[in-house]
Amino acid sequence: MKLTPWWKEAVIYQIYPRSFNDSNGDGEGDLPGITAHLEYVQTLGVDAIWLSPFYTSPNKDGGYDVADPRDVDPRFGDLDDAKNLIKRAHELNLRVLADIVPNHFSDQHKWFQAALKAGRGSPERDRFHFYDANPDGTPPNNWISLFGGPSWTQVEDGQFYLHLFDSSQPDLNWDNADVNSDFEETLRFWLDLGVDGFRIDVAHGLVKEDIGKNHPDPTGLSNALRLDVEMDSDVRNALLESVPYFDRQGVHEIYRRWRKIFDSYGDREVMAVAEAWVHPPINATRYVRADELHQVFNFDLLTAPFNSVFLFDVITRSIELNATVNALPTWALSNHDSPRVASRIGDLESQALALFVFALPGSAYIFAGQELGLPDGELQNSDRQDPSFIRSKGAIKGRDGARVPLPWSGESPPFGFTTGKPWLPLNQSWSALTIEKGSTNPDSVLNLYRKALSLRAQFLAGSGEIQWLESPLHGTKSSELLVFKRGAISVFMNLSHNDLVFDLSGQVLLSSTNGSLNLNDNSVIPARSTVWILN
Ligand code: NOJ
Repeated sequence: MKLTPWWKEAVIYQIYPRSFNDSNGDGEGDLPGITAHLEYVQTLGVDAIWLSPFYTSPNKDGGYDVADPRDVDPRFGDLDDAKNLIKRAHELNLRVLADIVPNHFSDQHKWFQAALKAGRGSPERDRFHFYDANPDGTPPNNWISLFGGPSWTQVEDGQFYLHLFDSSQPDLNWDNADVNSDFEETLRFWLDLGVDGFRIDVAHGLVKEDIGKNHPDPTGLSNALRLDVEMDSDVRNALLESVPYFDRQGVHEIYRRWRKIFDSYGDREVMAVAEAWVHPPINATRYVRADELHQVFNFDLLTAPFNSVFLFDVITRSIELNATVNALPTWALSNHDSPRVASRIGDLESQALALFVFALPGSAYIFAGQELGLPDGELQNSDRQDPSFIRSKGAIKGRDGARVPLPWSGESPPFGFTTGKPWLPLNQSWSALTIEKGSTNPDSVLNLYRKALSLRAQFLAGSGEIQWLESPLHGTKSSELLVFKRGAISVFMNLSHNDLVFDLSGQVLLSSTNGSLNLNDNSVIPARSTVWILN
């Protein structure tokens, strides 16, 4: 069954261009490398690709430091390469989402360079957040950058500018008319070039309040915002309710204006998904009200333990909250900012969880390499390039481990990713995980993903809500089995370390342990696995 609009329950494949495929031997992936391998992407059975930024950039933050949002960085190719990529994707029935970065520019953007020259009080400085120092010479407030260190940097004439991320990423002032009109031009530019929508970076961050005030606990707040810092959840939640630079009401006005632009492309069915880390969770639904954006990322599963109570709660909550605004949830197990799911919860567990979420209503996002069962790279500190590693002087390891290049073929690194020296090393142990090997091994994770997405399209598209079922087991073990029914399929996830034995009655369509499930034996759900049963 074909769903309209296309994005409602789409499966979207995230490509980190630098790490996908290198066509020219410089060690970094590029747009022609992606175009040449779109047929592979099509074999996965996904509906769309989301491309992390490939715009002109000094690459201080993996391209999320944009120096010209309407051009392609020469490392990735040129605008013709972008056009070819979009054209080829459309020929293969794949939609294309570009990643737009409206919270900040690179300090190399011509506007910031002009602002530096123009001096205090100028219209050029008004496009950013330039403020005078306090009388004692300190920055205008005590906010801490999300990458560590102060979120203010001083320029030659003594003023400071705000940067929530790296000092090379000055935040834009969304009260400024130029900023608004320039981004609208950028949206139209890419839509006119053929893209089908956008992933919106830091969508919750554009509007700031109380810049003139100190935060009562800036260190606590910056820890609360970091996924890798453990914290009592009440303390964390209280801190997250006090962020003066995230999730302000004003951001919604911006998205209402953007929605009108998207809708003006009519039957192109343009969509946008918000990266919005907000608290409390109900606030995320504001981004997907009928006159705003189409999807908002649910990040719960990026950090979720493989635990039935936790998973039941976050899944139920996400479905219910989205329903309040008539939207469907999104599910992502990995992305370029967090450890890869196979490394985080384990091989069996990551496959079980993937099959579980592929059967849920809403959109599923897959981070390139996830479909191979790829773990994080084993990196030396000297390999690391993430600004959070650099700014925190190594205290934060950063996100490079998840951003490793894909292993394509052959027996040793760089596994066909490049003919040159890859920008991050690939592990020798990945020889069994290459796309070449995965394609020929019927029991590979790659073929499991292909099978799951094909069955999802066949049996689950548009099949509505889930109904949680009581575990058919009783006693203590029942808490380690999650079961729901959706359409004609019942989905069982066994989170325990034991095979569970009972009568499933129905046909086993799919099991995350693949080869090891005896398809004639309906009565066993292997430990740490998910099984789809056709009733
Ligand atoms: C979120 C992006 O996903 C991340 O990679 C980037 O560092 C920050 N936003 C800043 O743009």
